[in-house]
Amino acid sequence: MKVTVVGAGNVGATCANVLATREVANEVVLLDIKDGFAEGKALDIWETSPINLYDTRTVGSTNDYSKTANSDVVVITSGLPRKPGMSRDDLIATNAGIVKSVTTQIMEHSPNAILVIVSNPLDVMTYCAYLNAGVDSTRVIGMAGILDTARYRSFLAEALNVSPKDIQAVLMGGHGDTMVPLPRYTTVGGIPVTELIDDETLSSIVERTKKGGGEIVNLLGTSAWYAPGAAAAQMVEAIVKDQRRVFPCCVWMTGEYGISDMYLGVPVILGKNGVEKVIELDLNDEEKKLLAESETAVREVKAVLDGMN
Ligand code: NAI
Ligand code: 2OP
Repeated sequence: MKVTVVGAGNVGATCANVLATREVANEVVLLDIKDGFAEGKALDIWETSPINLYDTRTVGSTNDYSKTANSDVVVITSGLPRKPGMSRDDLIATNAGIVKSVTTQIMEHSPNAILVIVSNPLDVMTYCAYLNAGVDSTRVIGMAGILDTARYRSFLAEALNVSPKDIQAVLMGGHGDTMVPLPRYTTVGGIPVTELIDDETLSSIVERTKKGGGEIVNLLGTSAWYAPGAAAAQMVEAIVKDQRRVFPCCVWMTGEYGISDMYLGVPVILGKNGVEKVIELDLNDEEKKLLAESETAVREVKAVLDGMN
């Protein structure tokens, strides 16, 4: 198996490091436009192999797509991250140009690849990649829900003083402040979370989750990378190993939840074909209302991209 990660910056390099350390593929190619940058990161990661005991080869490339040829999965992280005061949507013009050019070049060399998109604004950059990839929508998937639920689960683990391993959760909608964490579908070791935590604490955790990206931007001056890189790697692993994991992912909607013609976050089964199935939950009226608000927010950004095209 061969995996390419485009963009050797914070998220891309972290993702490549997790993929190598977990031996998800035989070869991981890192590609960036900055001269020598991807080669340097790939070499540094490879030099951890005798310490971390793995044999995945990591290879760097400065914009030479021939090195990415015949990749099974490609993660696209290239693009600007946001700075304090910026929303993810402020990145659209620059990142759409980058995602379009990268997707086109990737597909020329790896026509059978499944694409995992990370660049922001996530839902619309995934749509942008889909428009330019020329493949079925089940093979172009955005990463956001695993990161957002990981934040939610880690905050809950802290509040309940339990292992994050035992917290299961699902979240829907766009990767922005309108995302919809679903406490009704959150369990702790199989126990509904609502039986273990008071409403006020749960609501504050939901609100913190929605602004979880901004919390890190304010602390670091740029956006997060450890959790996003690990989340993208988890999607790659599910695809490469045909694990049929159930994750919230950003996928092309074809009438599920009454939503069509856009990319949005919903629970899916991820396997060797990409999106194997979209899972339809029986949402209550309040959850439907929140999802509709998130859909509207993403559609507004999508309209900007459609206008540019
Ligand atoms: P970064 O600035 O550390 O890395 C981005 C890399 O992309 C840079 O090394 C840059 O040289 C490279 N790049 C730019 N144009 C390129 C091109 N045409 N071809 C190849 N490489 C190119 O940024 P970071 O922190 O890694 O974030 C990357 C993207 O991921 C940003 O758009 C950020 O907003 C997004 N992001 C999305 C998350 C999500 O949940 N979906 C979470 C975290 C970040
Ligand atoms: C995050 O949620 C900025 O999308 C990025 O950390």
